[in-house]
Amino acid sequence: MTGPVRLAVLCGSAATPSSTERLLRRAAAHAESLGARVDFFAGERLRLPLYGTPGAASDSAVLDLVTSVAAADGLLVGSPCYHGSVSGLLKNAFDHLEELRDRSAPYLDGRAVGCLVVGQGAQGPANALRALRDIVHALRGWPTPLGVTVDGPPLRAPADCELEVRLELVARQVVAFAEARRAVTGGVGRDVAAVSRSA
Ligand SMILES: Cc1cc2nc3c(=O)[nH]c(=O)nc-3n(C[C@H](O)[C@H](O)[C@H](O)COP(=O)(O)O)c2cc1C
Repeated sequence: MTGPVRLAVLCGSAATPSSTERLLRRAAAHAESLGARVDFFAGERLRLPLYGTPGAASDSAVLDLVTSVAAADGLLVGSPCYHGSVSGLLKNAFDHLEELRDRSAPYLDGRAVGCLVVGQGAQGPANALRALRDIVHALRGWPTPLGVTVDGPPLRAPADCELEVRLELVARQVVAFAEARRAVTGGVGRDVAAVSRSA
């Protein structure tokens, strides 16, 4: 597989403006500056029918998400902290990835996933980050060593240097893992295909 590594970016807030989206776009911009191509899902693009409702699997927005994630070498995901965990909007999007169950690289297999949670307090975002990383793990993704929690940033404050460093680092970890995995396996799904051919 050639070309830039591809990242799917999922924002779990439907608010406008959204601090989660704002910070996720900064992390995505860092990934782009490292050479990644980014497909950003936020707002209407992630307003999906509830997983399991009739017709949901063939909904065009669901197909859009599933197709992008299937093609992605890595992900960045962000959620507002809602009642100590991730938003229902983001969890619903993850549930739709059940459509990727039978792929050679099922769900998030082989992808590094950088996680970001924004809340208003210290405890909630920490709990939600753990929940988010557990979901990524259950989907066979690789949560990056660094996860980012943010305690209520004002929306128009001057750039927070320490936070910017963390957003850049989480993006760097996702891109570096994606590039390394491509170099070794040829890309998402190729290693599994190669193993089955040689078995
Ligand atoms: C329904 C709801 C529940 C929330 N629960 C928590 C919480 O448990 N802990 C916390 O720190 N913040 C909580 N918050 C605050 C949001 O996480 C915070 O405002 C966040 O920045 C919103 O992100 P957004 O601007 O991207 O939507 C809650 C907000 C809402 C609307």
